[in-house]
Amino acid sequence: MRSTTLPRNDPAQYDDLADQWWEASGGFAALHWLAASRAAHIPPAAPGALLVDLACGGGLMAPHAARLGYRHVGVDLGETGLRVARGHGVVPVRGSVLAVPLVDGCADVVVAGEVLEHVEDDVAVLAECARLLKPGGTLVVDALADTRIGRFLMVTVAERLPGGPPPGIHDPALFVDRARLLAAAERLGLDLRLVGLRPSLRDAVAWRLGRRAGVRMKPVRSTAVVFAGYGRKR
Ligand SMILES: C[S@@+](CC[C@H](N)C(=O)[O-])C[C@H]1O[C@@H](n2cnc3c(N)ncnc32)[C@H](O)[C@@H]1O
Repeated sequence: MRSTTLPRNDPAQYDDLADQWWEASGGFAALHWLAASRAAHIPPAAPGALLVDLACGGGLMAPHAARLGYRHVGVDLGETGLRVARGHGVVPVRGSVLAVPLVDGCADVVVAGEVLEHVEDDVAVLAECARLLKPGGTLVVDALADTRIGRFLMVTVAERLPGGPPPGIHDPALFVDRARLLAAAERLGLDLRLVGLRPSLRDAVAWRLGRRAGVRMKPVRSTAVVFAGYGRKR
């Protein structure tokens, strides 16, 4: 594995880590916890409803989208991730979240999990979410906040912890300005509410001891580290 020799946020890291996507105790463990947390904010599908999963990676939303009854399209730049996602029932679309190759208003639900902090222009991604959603459609995002405590906990600390992000996967310079995101949502016709998230500490200990498969994410008042955005297109 050469991830640590690549620059921070280099997309080639996901190719090196491709075998980790579905490892419940691997480098992407926390993404499984976040996928379950997202699903709790998505309503069951009407017949034929479409969920567009921006930056789907290895398709960790797949079991949740299937259980809720959605057709699940995943968009990502990474071919290896898309191949893994396809193996889990996701319809893969290769493309950038900054210019998604799907038509306006196609989606009943748009999910953009842990990608806003990986791009140069998070507001452009939010604009794509708004463009893809039908009026009344559901938006679920989660990301890392551009704060001193966020950078310290998610880079300096979390990269050294089991269940934390693989070392070098984040560039703290890209973490998300929450006020800017909320202002953009308003302009884009999205009602968006931000909520802080943290892993359940009790679950994390049990998971570490091999007594739990996953860890529940808990809502917290502070959005200064990991936060989710729950929204609706007006
Ligand atoms: C931290 S992973 C999150 C994956 C998935 N959303 C999840 O939560 O399991 C970030 C993903 O963003 C993708 N990505 C980064 N920049 C992208 C871009 N501009 N367009 C599409 N995908 C991108 C990477 O390939 C990777 O799969």
